[in-house]
Amino acid sequence: MKAENNRTRIMVVNGPNLNLLGRREPGIYGNGTMEQCLAALRVHYPEVDIDAFQSNIEGELVTCLQRAAAEGYDGIVLNAAAYTHTSIALLDAVRAISTPVVEVHISNVAARESFRHISLIAPACLGSISGFGLDSYRLAVEALLARIQTV
Ligand code: DQA
Repeated sequence: MKAENNRTRIMVVNGPNLNLLGRREPGIYGNGTMEQCLAALRVHYPEVDIDAFQSNIEGELVTCLQRAAAEGYDGIVLNAAAYTHTSIALLDAVRAISTPVVEVHISNVAARESFRHISLIAPACLGSISGFGLDSYRLAVEALLARIQTV
């Protein structure tokens, strides 16, 4: 189901502890908040409707992905946070939908502890962007728009 006004819609989905951005380990994740990141995205892409959802609960993230697909979002930016490294349920959810999903990480997960080098969801995603701070989200939207516009 496409939005009635035909505008491109992107859902930004954030996993556990990302509600604490700005206060959480600023040496790794910076001082910016998700609200600031979303506001900047909406200024940067005035032609795109950008909605967002955050949960600390794995199943709620699964439900959000299913709903975003059912509601006809054109693309999903997913920072599954720690669930990236553990969640078969999120892998299955990304596989279960046809909406393109770009995996995002604020930090460069490849340069951190070895358990962060594994992403269970990456194989189901269009691609992964990691290590550019909150700009990772803009790069993910850019990648989604490039994909959406060619389909
Ligand atoms: C993160 C990286 C994950 O390893 C970590 O558990 C997070 C945030 C990132 O955005 O850099 O919570 O996804």
